[in-house]
Amino acid sequence: MVQLTLPKNSQVQPGKSWPAQDGDTTRQFQIYRYNPDSPDNPKLDTYTVDTENCGPMVLDALIKIKNEIDPTLTFRRSCREGICGSCSMNIDGTNTLACLKGLDEINGTVKIYPLPHMPVVKDLVPDMTQFYTQHRSIEPWLKTETTEPRKEWLQSHEDREKLDGLYECILCACCSTSCPSYWWNGDRYLGPAILLQAYRWLIDSRDEATGERLDDLEDPFRLYRCHTIMNCAKACPKGLNPAKAIAEVKKMMLERRV
Ligand code: SF4
Ligand code: SF4
Ligand code: FES
Repeated sequence: MVQLTLPKNSQVQPGKSWPAQDGDTTRQFQIYRYNPDSPDNPKLDTYTVDTENCGPMVLDALIKIKNEIDPTLTFRRSCREGICGSCSMNIDGTNTLACLKGLDEINGTVKIYPLPHMPVVKDLVPDMTQFYTQHRSIEPWLKTETTEPRKEWLQSHEDREKLDGLYECILCACCSTSCPSYWWNGDRYLGPAILLQAYRWLIDSRDEATGERLDDLEDPFRLYRCHTIMNCAKACPKGLNPAKAIAEVKKMMLERRV
């Protein structure tokens, strides 16, 4: 039989049940807790929240728990309207943004974990260092040789439209952390979020480094670990389709060979 050795701290233990809030409409939340300063394994703490006096989103409930029950609960958030990408986490078994996930979309206990397959800094906060390093590696800025125009760089309406479905990406990493190829090869495979970003610059009519950008992706791991499993498109809370962008990059690779 295969013997698997689980990484340190990967076994989650039952945790503390916090005193319930008063109210006619209460809801249970089970939340992953990990304290890097403690030798203990991560735990699942249980909170009972009065949802009548709470906003409608999972993020509202997390903020209520932090403000009124347990100030040590740690998570990231900023805009609370699906723009900053900070509040990505695994809710009810799906990677999504806590500020866009309605409590009414979940049946029963609300289970909340950090994004999967990323090291955890504390509680619901993943360590995004590798993800951001990979983003930097694709040089996500306009690269040109032509002298800059005195006003703005102009684009035709058709060229501008090519950026639709790409520029909206908020780098929340919900897609990459739902991709099995990224789970197993995340150190070498760029993953759906970063490849969608790479395509955003490849397809930009104003960019003049297309060949150089394609050279950089021509690698058995950086691009070609995508097996079109499509988890990424299902996970994206902004309704984007990274798998399609990856297919377009592969097409560009083929086209330049012929
Ligand atoms: S389509 Fe590609 S990038 Fe998207 S989840 Fe599947 S393997 Fe990952
Ligand atoms: S493609 Fe979607 S899921 Fe992936 S990082 Fe961008 S916004 Fe997040
Ligand atoms: S708080 Fe900004 S995306 Fe959720």
